[in-house]
Amino acid sequence: MERGRNRKEKRPLTMPHQGLLLFRMAPLCMLLGMLMVSCFNFCLCHKNSEFALTNPEKSSTKETERKETIAEEELEPKILEVFHPTHEWQALRPGQAVPAGSHVRLNLQTGAREVKLQDEDKFQTNLKGSKKGKRLDINTNTYTSQDLKDALAKFKEGAEMENSKEDQERQAKVKQLFRPIEELKKDFEELNVVIETDMQIMVRLINKFNSSSSSLEEKIAALFDLEYYVHQMDNAQDLLSFGGLQVVINGLNSTEPLVKEYAAFVLGAAFSSNPKVQVEAIEGGALQKLLVILATEQPLTTKKKALFALCSLLRHFPYAQQQFLKLGGLQVLRSLVQEKGMEVLAVRVVTLLYDLVTEKMFAEEDAELTQDMSPERLQQYRQVHLLPSLQEQGWCEITAHLLALPEHDAREKVLQTLGALLATCWDRFHQDTQLHKTLGTLQAEYQALAALELQEGEDEGYFQELLDSINSLLMELR
Ligand SMILES: *[C@@H]1O[C@H](CO)[C@@H](O)[C@H](O)[C@H]1NC(C)=O
Ligand SMILES: *[C@@H]1O[C@H](CO)[C@@H](O)[C@H](O)[C@H]1NC(C)=O
Repeated sequence: MERGRNRKEKRPLTMPHQGLLLFRMAPLCMLLGMLMVSCFNFCLCHKNSEFALTNPEKSSTKETERKETIAEEELEPKILEVFHPTHEWQALRPGQAVPAGSHVRLNLQTGAREVKLQDEDKFQTNLKGSKKGKRLDINTNTYTSQDLKDALAKFKEGAEMENSKEDQERQAKVKQLFRPIEELKKDFEELNVVIETDMQIMVRLINKFNSSSSSLEEKIAALFDLEYYVHQMDNAQDLLSFGGLQVVINGLNSTEPLVKEYAAFVLGAAFSSNPKVQVEAIEGGALQKLLVILATEQPLTTKKKALFALCSLLRHFPYAQQQFLKLGGLQVLRSLVQEKGMEVLAVRVVTLLYDLVTEKMFAEEDAELTQDMSPERLQQYRQVHLLPSLQEQGWCEITAHLLALPEHDAREKVLQTLGALLATCWDRFHQDTQLHKTLGTLQAEYQALAALELQEGEDEGYFQELLDSINSLLMELR
């Protein structure tokens, strides 16, 4: 199952840029972190949630820079020792780097810099109050100079107790960091760093995309960057709140295939497990627009992203599934899998259908067993007449033919789907001599592969699993 995981591929392109910048800023982060412990329990080092550090000159990231970033990232692990935080506070030693998203603080009792994994839940609640449109203002911290002096005194005490050379060096470094706030601000100015909230960044990106004076390249870059932010549920909902979502949805009917593609890319991420956004997207016409892209002549990459956005819009949203069926979505997908040059999309389509079939089945089963689904939601699932439509529209045959695909993972998905369609398609499958032949051939092939797997000591291996599903299909179809 695809499960929208391919979005992860993109992460390394944008993250290291910020990660690296942050690392260079580590000393500043440390001081700031210390200054802010009492107001926020997280600091600038904590990218990706509330505050982001961006360098305005660099924010319109272009390909060349991304390449550099990747090259830089490749170097990084050789230079730095990376510390892997846990959910407990642990002392960080000099020269150790922490992964983005970690929580760093200065322990005033011991003078040590400590790190732990961000605690999602707490973080969310902490954030709720301070969220919208807030700028980080280093003057408003509640840290007093007395606290700093006390902390310094602790360092001195500590230095007397443990006086290994390394520790002394570390403490000298830490002391250097106690500089007046004015100096700190100057550093920020020199670095040309602006502290922007995710919301502000999204507004800026949407304005860039929405502006008629932006070039195509700028628009695409804005969407590309935006995709990173909308993975977070809160951000995706914020996008909705200022009208940004609709702007992106309208991008789906742009005349530029690339704009369509990247708009779909952003939407796929924004819809993912985000019911509020999914509902708004349906109201905003996203479903029709996605189907139009899939039904008309478009480059393969555009259709791929549109299909991804469609999957993410339909999942766990029975109302959208009903609309999809009403709008003729199954016919659109059928033409798509039969279109020349779109074969690679066929497996994704079949996977989507498998997901929808099993989702409805589990929802109905769950509702009976646990009774904790709302009656409205169950009613909506009941109104998704998926299986009869699939049968009427020839999906039994289409799916059976796809078993001829050469890749193992494609066959795996097709076998899964055949299993899910078995009750509905039994007559068709039973009479389909080609299907029986194909299953026979595959059975022999996977018997051999499973035997090899077994020789290598794997007794519940991948090929054995495929073989098991083939065997059970053959048995059911007898
Ligand atoms: C996008 O641009 C249009 C006009 O060009 C404007 O009316 C609309 O408010 C803009 N939308 C956003 C969210 O900025
Ligand atoms: C897309 O269609 C909507 C209405 O369906 C329209 O408001 C919008 O301007 C269109 N966008 C483009 C870029 O054509």
